[in-house]
Amino acid sequence: MSVSSSGSTTLSGSTGAASAGRGLWSSRLAFVLAATGSAVGLGNIWKFPYITGENGGGAFVLMYLVCIAVVGIPIMMAEVMIGRRGGRSPVNSLRAIARKDGLKPAWMLVGAIGILAGFLILSFYSVIGGWAISYIGTAASGQLAGQSADAIGGLFSGLLASPGTLLLWHTVFMVLVMVVVAKGVKAGLERAVTILMPALFVLLLIMVGYAMNSGAFARGAAFLFQPDFSKLSTTGLLVALGHAFFTLSLGMAVMMAYGSYLPKGVSIARTSITVSIIDTVVALLAGLAIFPVVFANGLEPGAGPGLIFQTLPLAFGQMPGGSFFGTLFFVLLLFAAWTSGISLLEPIVEWLEERKGMNRTLSTVISGTVCWLLGIASILSLNLWSDVTPMSFIPALEGKTIFDLLDFLTANILLPLGGLAVAVFAGWVMSKPALEAEMAMSSSAFRLWFVTVRYVTPVAVAAVFLYNLV
Ligand code: PHE
Repeated sequence: MSVSSSGSTTLSGSTGAASAGRGLWSSRLAFVLAATGSAVGLGNIWKFPYITGENGGGAFVLMYLVCIAVVGIPIMMAEVMIGRRGGRSPVNSLRAIARKDGLKPAWMLVGAIGILAGFLILSFYSVIGGWAISYIGTAASGQLAGQSADAIGGLFSGLLASPGTLLLWHTVFMVLVMVVVAKGVKAGLERAVTILMPALFVLLLIMVGYAMNSGAFARGAAFLFQPDFSKLSTTGLLVALGHAFFTLSLGMAVMMAYGSYLPKGVSIARTSITVSIIDTVVALLAGLAIFPVVFANGLEPGAGPGLIFQTLPLAFGQMPGGSFFGTLFFVLLLFAAWTSGISLLEPIVEWLEERKGMNRTLSTVISGTVCWLLGIASILSLNLWSDVTPMSFIPALEGKTIFDLLDFLTANILLPLGGLAVAVFAGWVMSKPALEAEMAMSSSAFRLWFVTVRYVTPVAVAAVFLYNLV
C-alpha cells in the first residue's frame, strides 16, 4: 500500500497483508483516474474502429451507444456499489455481502468468471499492446514518412508474419504490466494518467483535424453516424453488446475491485457516468480520426484487427511533423493499454494473495507467466497457425483462429455473462435497503437504476444471447 504525499493511501493494491490496512481513494478524482485508466485502452482505439468497420458502421455504432447507456452504465454502477459495500477483493466482497444478507456463497462465481476472463483477455491484449510498442519504433525511425497505403500495409503484414518480433514485444508489454502489479505501486502511474490521458485526447483531436482535411471526412462521419440497419447482423448486435462490456472494463469485477477503494459519500452514479462518457468520447474520436483516412485512401473499412495500424500510420506519413506525432501517439497508446493491462491482471493476483496466501510478487510472476505463455498461442495464430480454427464445428465460431476465439469468447460471452450475474445479484439478490443506502441517490434516480438492473439489463443481455442462438 503506498501512501500519497498528503498521507492518505491511494489505490495500489494491498501488499499481501490483511485487508485492515486498505486505504480509501484520496479523492473521487483518484478513482475516476484509475477507472478511466482501466476503461480507456486498446478497446477504444484499436478494437472499436475495427469492429465498427467489420459490422457495417452506423447501425452498429448506434447499438453500441444504446448498450453503453442501457447496460453498461447501470452495470458499472452496480459493480462499483458491490465493491464499495463489500470492501474486499471482488470474490470476497461478493461472498461477504452474500453472507451478510443471508445469501448463497455461490455468487462467488461472479468473481471467478471475472478472474478467468481477465486472464484470457490479457493474453491477447498483451500481443496487441506489443504491436503498439513496435510501432513506436517504426514511427520514430521515420519509416512511415511519405509511404503509400500499400507500403504501410506491407509493414503491418511484415510484423504479423514475424513470430519472433511479436513475441519480443508481447514479452515487453507483459513485463511492464507485471512490474507495476508486483510492486503494487499504481500511484505513480495514476499520476501519469492525469497528464497522458489528456495528451492522448489532444492528439486524437489533432488526428481528427487532419482527417477533416483528408477529403473524405463527410464519408467517414456518415459511415460512423448514419445507421443502415440492413448492415447489422445478429452477430453484430452481440459484438456491440460485448464491446460495451469490454470497453468499460465490465463483467470481470475490475470496477468492483476499484469500487472497494471508493470513499463513502461519493456519488456512484455521477462517477460511473463520468467514466463512461470519457471512454465513449475517446472511442468516437478514434473512429472519426480513422474512417476518413480509410475512405480517402480507398482502404477497406472491414480490414479487421489491423485497421488502425494500416490507417493512422498513413496519416502520420503524410502530415507535417508526422514522425513526431506518430511516435507520440503510439507511446500514449501504449500507456493507455498499460493501465488497462494492469487492471486485467490485478483481480487474479489479488485472489491468489487473499485466498492462497501467496505474496504479491509470487502471485504476479505465476499468473503473469501463465498468461504470457497463453499469449504465444495468439501470436502463432497470426502466422504459423493462421489455419488453425479449433472451434469450426460450431457455426458461429467457424473460421476463427485462436486469437479470434479468445477475443470472441471473452468479450461476447464471458463478460456479458459476468455482467448479467452482477445485474441479477444487484437487482434480485441484495437487499433493497442495502442498495438504497449504498447508492444514496434521489428516489426517482434510484428507481430508474433499480428497474434497469433488475429487468432491462438482464432481459437485454438474455435477448441478445438467445437471438444469436436461433
Ligand atoms: N477496457 C479496456 C479497453 O478498452 C479493456 C479491459 C477489459 C480492461 C476488461 C479491463 C477489463 O481497452
